[in-house]
Amino acid sequence: MPAAGLEMSSMKSQSLSYHETPAIGASQSEIDTPCVIVDLQAAEQNISTLLERFERYPSVSVRPHLKTAKSPHLAQIMLQRGAKGICVAKISEAEVFVQAGITDILITTEIAGALKVARLMQLANRCPELRVVIDNEAAVHAIEDAAEALKHKLKVLIDLNVGQNRTGVNTSEEAVALANTVARLAHLELIGVQGYEGHLQHLEAAEREAKCREAMSKLNGVANALREKGHTIQSVTTGGTGTAEICASCEGITEVQPGSFVFMDTSYSRATERAYQHALSVYATVISKPENNRVVVDAGTKSLSIDMGYAEIAGHLDWTYTPGGDEHGIIKAESGVINLVPGDRIELLPAHIDTTVALHDRYYVMRGAKLEAIWHIATRGKVQ
Ligand SMILES: Cc1ncc(COP(=O)(O)O)c(C=O)c1O
Repeated sequence: MPAAGLEMSSMKSQSLSYHETPAIGASQSEIDTPCVIVDLQAAEQNISTLLERFERYPSVSVRPHLKTAKSPHLAQIMLQRGAKGICVAKISEAEVFVQAGITDILITTEIAGALKVARLMQLANRCPELRVVIDNEAAVHAIEDAAEALKHKLKVLIDLNVGQNRTGVNTSEEAVALANTVARLAHLELIGVQGYEGHLQHLEAAEREAKCREAMSKLNGVANALREKGHTIQSVTTGGTGTAEICASCEGITEVQPGSFVFMDTSYSRATERAYQHALSVYATVISKPENNRVVVDAGTKSLSIDMGYAEIAGHLDWTYTPGGDEHGIIKAESGVINLVPGDRIELLPAHIDTTVALHDRYYVMRGAKLEAIWHIATRGKVQ
C-alpha cells in the first residue's frame, strides 16, 4: 500500500485518457495537477462541528466568513445547517453571493471612494439585508449621499480596533462621535459594532484566551457606551476560527464570524486545538527526481501561497516542501530516500487556505474516492 497522501503511478496498470473536465465519479488520479481537491465529507463535518459547538451559546449567532470558502455551494450548506447569514470582505464577493440568492450579508471591510460607494449602493438596492462596517466620517457622508440618491436605507456597524491595529475607531469617544453622525443621517441605520481580533488567531491557547477576553471586554464596553448614549446596538460581531468560542463565552457578544474552519490549513492546525479536519489539499505530480532524497513537483508559488509558510506533505512530516519558483516545488527528505518517481502524485496541505484557493479556478469536490462535483471557485479574483 502506498503511504497516506501518495499515489504511485508506477503501481497502476491501466493507462488513463485525458479529460479537461473529468467525469463525475472519476477518481483523483483522473484529475490533472496541480489541482485543489475538496474532501466534502470532511468540510461538511467541519461545518456541523462548528455549528454544534455553538449550540451552547444560544444568544450568539454564527455568521461564517466566506473569504475562505469562496463558494455559494458551501455558503448554502452552512445556512441550511443553521448559520445566521454570511460575511464577506469585499463588495465584489457580496455580488456573487447575492447573485446566488444569499442576501443576509455583512461586508466586514470599510467602503471608501466614489466608485466603491456607487457599487455598494447598486448592490444594496438588490439586497436590502446588506450591512457594512464604517470607521470614518467622510466615508459615512459619501455613503449617505449615495443612499439618499437611491432613497435606500443601509444598515451599518461601527468597526472598532480591538488590537489588530488594522481598521476601526480606537476609542469609545470616537465610536460615539461616529454614531452621533450616523444618527443625524436619514439613510443610514446603526445596528451594531464589529471588532475583529485577527492578530490573536494563531497565538498559543492560554495567551490567545487571555488577550481575546481583553479585546472582547473593550468591544462590549464600546457597545455599552453607545447604548448609554441612546444608540441601538443589536449586533456585536467578532471572532475567527481560533477565537470564536472564546468570544462567544464573553459578555455582550452576539455574533461570531469564523471562516477557516471549513477547510483548515496547517498554520491554523499547528496553532489551535484540532476540532476541525483538513478538508482541502493541493495535489501535485512529480516531474523530476534529480537526487534520491529530492524530487521536484509541478506546484510552485502559482499553486500554493507562501504568506503563512510552506505546505506540508500529507503522510510525510519528515519530508519538506519548498517552492522552487512559480511552477516548481521541491520535496526533500533530510534523511533517507524519497520513494517516488516522475509521474507519481503527492498530496500537499496548504499553509494558508484563503490565499492558496485564490490561485485556482476549480474545486474538485470528492466524496470518498469519487468526484462528486466540480465547483467554480466563485469569489476567486473578487478583490474589489
Ligand atoms: C473581519 C474578519 N472576520 C472573520 C475572519 C475569519 O477568520 P478565520 O479565517 O481566522 O476564521 C476574518 C479573516 O481574516 C476577518 O478578516
